[in-house]
Amino acid sequence: MGIVRVGLGAVEYRVIIEPGALSRVGGTIREACLPSGVHVVSNPTVWGLYGAVVERSLREAGLLGAAPDFVSLVPDAETAKSLTHLSGLYDDLVSRRLDRAVAVVAVGGGVVGDLAGLAAATYLRGVALVQVPTTLLAQVDASVGGKVAIDHREGKNLIGAFHHPRAVVVDPSTLATLAPREFAAGMAEVIKHALIADEAYLRFLEEKGEDLRGLEPGVLERAITRSVEIKAAVVGRDEREAGPRALLNLGHTIGHGVEAATGYGRYRHGEAVAVGIVGAAWVSARMGLAAGDLVARVESVLAKYNLPTRLAGAVPASEVLAAMGHDKKRRGERLRWVLLRAPGDPLYGHEVPAAVAREALSYLGAAD
Ligand SMILES: NC(=O)c1ccc[n+]([C@@H]2O[C@H](COP(=O)([O-])OP(=O)(O)OC[C@H]3O[C@@H](n4cnc5c(N)ncnc54)[C@H](O)[C@@H]3O)[C@@H](O)[C@H]2O)c1
Ligand SMILES: [Zn+2]
Repeated sequence: MGIVRVGLGAVEYRVIIEPGALSRVGGTIREACLPSGVHVVSNPTVWGLYGAVVERSLREAGLLGAAPDFVSLVPDAETAKSLTHLSGLYDDLVSRRLDRAVAVVAVGGGVVGDLAGLAAATYLRGVALVQVPTTLLAQVDASVGGKVAIDHREGKNLIGAFHHPRAVVVDPSTLATLAPREFAAGMAEVIKHALIADEAYLRFLEEKGEDLRGLEPGVLERAITRSVEIKAAVVGRDEREAGPRALLNLGHTIGHGVEAATGYGRYRHGEAVAVGIVGAAWVSARMGLAAGDLVARVESVLAKYNLPTRLAGAVPASEVLAAMGHDKKRRGERLRWVLLRAPGDPLYGHEVPAAVAREALSYLGAAD
């Protein structure tokens, strides 16, 4: 079993990573926060697959009582991260008259975690939150770090809060039912973690491609645990994104630009980030910060996990650049990027001239 302690000043919680953890989630929640009751947030896809196991464990732990309405299901789509669905959750919590000692339990991917997290951050000025992430992306990224949010029509994650969970319960065996494309999207963040923090971990990912794609339990648990450790360490140094936390944005400058320029429909976030990571490696080499072979190494490990390394279809460079200009990571007039001197040796806040960014996009296959 992997246990990662996330420590941020007064806040401390455990991320438990273990096959079968789902069937013990009730006991884990009791240990973490002794709630008066629980309210679960999930979606029909995930609840259809794992609802019975979770419900049994919550019942065994004495957390459900007689309540038949302990679960709110939200639509299985990014559109669930809206005021409408947040408001629906408040209605459910209020109509159950849940008090401040309730724990909100998010069972699902990043969409469910972000929405349920914001409800927990604000209901009665904040109640306990337990994250039970079931996508790779949510397990290694979204569930750790305390960011919770909904979207606004003008942009993603514009309405949110910092609200740390009391515990994160990761059951890697849930990934068996995840679509391969979703698994790959999560791997982009995993590879990002290796690149910003740990060259040996990158070698592990390079060597274990087949095992990891085949969900070999030991290898999977090791990878999730190492990724969560890296994210927790970065976030622990800098909870609110002023400095080092920005390292987690490797690949995200171009990635966000590509997502915006393609209307958020064509690429999964992780796929856009994969292309963005190649772009960041290319810029690092082009600016003389990294050796030229960094680009090939980065492309090869991403390809091993079926991630794109180039843009497909006509993605206009000018639109990506324009969208990057609106990126919230921008400070003043200059674009600041996370670059790499080598795997495990990142540089934060490096200024990249617009002309070099344009060259990088052309390398990535963007249209003029
Ligand atoms: N809070 C943060 O720090 C943070 C970080 C990264 C991303 N996010 C957010 O996370 C969201 C993306 O999360 P995601 O990639 O998990 O997408 P998602 O929540 O939409 O899940 C992807 C798909 O997988 C399905 N699914 C989930 N678990 C499954 C399982 N075990 N088996 C089968 N199907 C399963 C879901 O129903 C969905 O259709 C975005 O809204 C993004 O903004 C937040
Ligand atoms: Zn990301």
